[in-house]
Amino acid sequence: MKITSIWNPKGGQGKSLLSINIAAAAVELGLTPVVICQDPQGTSMLYYEGGNLPFIVLPEPPKKRINADLILFDHQASELEIPDANLLVMPTMPARDQYATWANAYERAKKAKGKKIIKVVTNCNYSRKEEAEIAQTLKQTGAFEVRASGVFSKAANDYYSIFHPKMNRAYKVRERRQEINAILAAILQED
Ligand SMILES: Nc1ncnc2c1ncn2[C@@H]1O[C@H](COP(=O)(O)OP(=O)(O)OP(=O)(O)O)[C@@H](O)[C@H]1O
Ligand SMILES: [Mg+2]
Repeated sequence: MKITSIWNPKGGQGKSLLSINIAAAAVELGLTPVVICQDPQGTSMLYYEGGNLPFIVLPEPPKKRINADLILFDHQASELEIPDANLLVMPTMPARDQYATWANAYERAKKAKGKKIIKVVTNCNYSRKEEAEIAQTLKQTGAFEVRASGVFSKAANDYYSIFHPKMNRAYKVRERRQEINAILAAILQED
């Protein structure tokens, strides 16, 4: 069983978006993922209550061992402490004011013992020069990317992941699914 924390103390950086969609990608591979929503009123819990996810979301860590291949902790904003999990997925949007908090958290996590960190640039708008530069720099140092795309808000309208069959004809959904699949592959590759 793999345990991964999706973490960035800065709010609104794509933690919940990644948690839901990486879990949905895992289902496509025949795995059983579970998302743990660290904020009971949080986004991934809302998605789950929408009834259209092919996996479960729990409002807190289970007391007993559960049957899952992959556990994804969807952390809440303002959680400054580095999560316990050895594998961290750290998303950030590339706008300078947003990125600063991420960079600080990333440096701290890098110094912590035994952590593997998967960096992800989310929601980059390449027509903004400054964002494009930050995204480019991050990608050069191995960050994954989930580009800014309308498929996420379209899916969010019905609390779907972008892997829901009803999203199959959405504009550029295949590209976005590939980006999410690449992050999942990186998670599964870690031991
Ligand atoms: N690549 C993207 N394309 C389009 N929208 C995106 C992208 N990444 C993130 N967003 C949007 O940004 C908003 C914030 O994302 P999300 O809720 O996943 O962030 P979060 O880090 O979980 O926030 P919080 O800290 O409040 O829990 C959402 O509306 C989400 O759909
Ligand atoms: Mg969230």
